[in-house]
Amino acid sequence: MKKDFILILDFGSQYSHMIARRIRDIGVYTLLYNYNEISISHIISKQPKGLILSGGPFSIYEKGSPLISKNIFQLNIPIFGICYGMQLISFLFGGKIKKSKSKEYGKSYFIIDHPNNSLFHGIPDKSIVWMSHFDEVKNIPKEFSVIGHTSSCDIAAFSHISKNIYAVQFHPEVKNTEYGISILKNFVFHICKCNLNWKLNNFVQNTIDNIKKRVDQKKVILGFSGGVDSFVTAYIIHKAIGNSLNCIFVDTGLLLKTEKISSLCKKMNFPIKIINAKNHFLSKLTGIVDPEMKRKIIGKEFLYIFQKESEKIKNVEFLAQGTIYSDIIESSGFSKTSISYSIKSHHNVGGLPKTLMKLKLIEPLKELFKDEVRKIGEELGLPKEILYRHPFPGPGLGIRIIGEINEEKISLLKEAENILSQELKNYDIYNFVSQAFIVLLPIKSVGIKGDKRTYEYTAILRAINTEDFMTATFSHLSYDFLEKISNRIINEVDGINRIAYDITSKPPSTIEWE
Ligand code: XMP
Repeated sequence: MKKDFILILDFGSQYSHMIARRIRDIGVYTLLYNYNEISISHIISKQPKGLILSGGPFSIYEKGSPLISKNIFQLNIPIFGICYGMQLISFLFGGKIKKSKSKEYGKSYFIIDHPNNSLFHGIPDKSIVWMSHFDEVKNIPKEFSVIGHTSSCDIAAFSHISKNIYAVQFHPEVKNTEYGISILKNFVFHICKCNLNWKLNNFVQNTIDNIKKRVDQKKVILGFSGGVDSFVTAYIIHKAIGNSLNCIFVDTGLLLKTEKISSLCKKMNFPIKIINAKNHFLSKLTGIVDPEMKRKIIGKEFLYIFQKESEKIKNVEFLAQGTIYSDIIESSGFSKTSISYSIKSHHNVGGLPKTLMKLKLIEPLKELFKDEVRKIGEELGLPKEILYRHPFPGPGLGIRIIGEINEEKISLLKEAENILSQELKNYDIYNFVSQAFIVLLPIKSVGIKGDKRTYEYTAILRAINTEDFMTATFSHLSYDFLEKISNRIINEVDGINRIAYDITSKPPSTIEWE
């Protein structure tokens, strides 16, 4: 079924995903493409109802800044430029861009100059918007008119008189823009004339029906991690084909002490095979210090064991994965271009061995963002403790033990993690931080426990808040909580005698330490 949708071209803004999510939230399907990943003819063949050009961290005159062909304006579909997208439209039509008088980050008052413009339908003349730019449009090309300004930005919005092109310097997708959603709605419904078409409950039933038809009498295997995405994937597929689904859970020995996979699956009524591969992983990791090597070894061994197990099951024709839309964007987006660099090799996007590649893929969640997966999970009645779990990386504790991994360190880290998990719940703050965990350093220091000298490891508490895990700030936890964690770990875990709190945000640090 062909549905109305908005296509977003991403120029590298940290908010591009937010544009896609906000529009889905108002009931219209969106697709996000890296600006150089899709040609104009491909855009034409997809027939979007509207195009959005996102913001980005570039200056238009900078060497290598991302550009697109001016032919994009011949497509005869409405176009909306945001921040860099606005400057790009102006540039392509021959307008001039300049450095702003001062860099503008944060809230500004936006004044509408053309209240009758369709983009501003139902929006007051003066409202708060969120700015984040260092360049701005200096003068607009001929066919355009200025439709809004702020005290420090004379051209904060413009539109093309006849071509259905609109642009704003601020970010309507960011919550701090008071009428941001209304502006997006005006673009999507009034200007692009999209129909409401994105409803999650229809999605679940359609997906179940499609899987049933596609799999028929064959079997499906799924590498089950116990995270939200693989849990919802398994649940949906199990609803479609029952026990033709074979979930395989590889216990690498690098999991949290609190993992109770088999009981959770029993509760949800789908079968799972647990493979104990603790010794295998430990032996492969012995002596390895380099973080990327660890990630690669864990990823490779995981696939090796998963493959061996799946070969034992007859009539398997499909491989299911809990891929979600942000995994697809991240593995095909800017990371493949020269614009950003690969920071870490992610465990679950490493590529499949040949034998598994022969299988057909089932990825029921690949169009959804994480919050949509959670909404679906709630509708399906899955337990909140699974849906709202903090993310846990594929390589597990292997990348939270800095330096060499051994049995002693794994056990210390598991004890410390267990205390953290209990206290996050006791203090009722589990749901107020996006992710919290302990990192074990390979550094020992001197301390005193019960009048005796100790020489033990140092552990780091890391807790962050984020919406999308691409950027994050460290959580502002109370001293009382920090003190509790420190006291409990030092008193209860023999082998750790010092705790520090990580107060860096992402960027510049990443969330995990390796
Ligand atoms: P970083 O450390 O890159 O982490 O800021 C961002 C988020 O991704 C999680 N993470 C992973 N998840 N496989 C995963 O499934 C991995 O290899 C992996 N590495 C990091 C991390 O916990 C955080 O939530």
